Amino acid sequence: MIRYISLVVFVLCTVSTYAMKVVDIHTICKDVNVNTSFCITLLKSKQGADLVTLAQYTIDDLQIEVNNTVNLIKTLIHQYDKDPEAKSHYVECFDLFGGPNGAVSNFEDMENSLKGGDYDGMTEAVYGVLVAYESCIEGESPGEIPYPDKSLLPKYAKVVENVAYIILAITKFLKRNV
Ligand SMILES: *[C@@H]1O[C@H](CO)[C@@H](O)[C@H](O)[C@H]1NC(C)=O
Ligand SMILES: *[C@@H]1O[C@H](CO)[C@@H](O)[C@H](O)[C@H]1NC(C)=O
Repeated sequence: MIRYISLVVFVLCTVSTYAMKVVDIHTICKDVNVNTSFCITLLKSKQGADLVTLAQYTIDDLQIEVNNTVNLIKTLIHQYDKDPEAKSHYVECFDLFGGPNGAVSNFEDMENSLKGGDYDGMTEAVYGVLVAYESCIEGESPGEIPYPDKSLLPKYAKVVENVAYIILAITKFLKRNV
């Protein structure tokens, strides 16, 4: 019985240690898909935090960046009211970022998956955000010429993409510790 209890204690400790795992932010930011300098700037204030805390912090930031992008697109739709081609581009981007199935719709899943340790579900939700970036900025289908957007939207959307890839990089480390 004693031996059994100490085994349970050992297992519980191991599980919580994994959840609390700390990985140096420079190691995370070295991921091939990540803009390293951008990543270090974003995560610097959280150096030493465990992976789950780091993931939640980055999800919160992604949500802010997506909101900023949606708000910018709303402004652009009004601004280009008399330019049908531009307007239809921005209306499409609004749907991709802010619509009912757009980027904004993925955050509940992303956070619940993180809490539940479902890192595949989390990855899928992040891809749901990346799809908005790709379709709005790079064009719907491969080979399609992207809209020559002179507004600030490509810059805002690029920040969304950068932050999304940082979450994917953190998720890779979380998966290794399952
Ligand atoms: C990486 O992010 C920085 C801003 O932190 C930016 O100046 C730079 O152009 C980005 N690099 C790439 C390859 O996107
Ligand atoms: C983003 O906008 C949604 C809806 O407008 C709001 O519920 C949410 O709190 C906002 N999130 C952030 C991080 O600003």
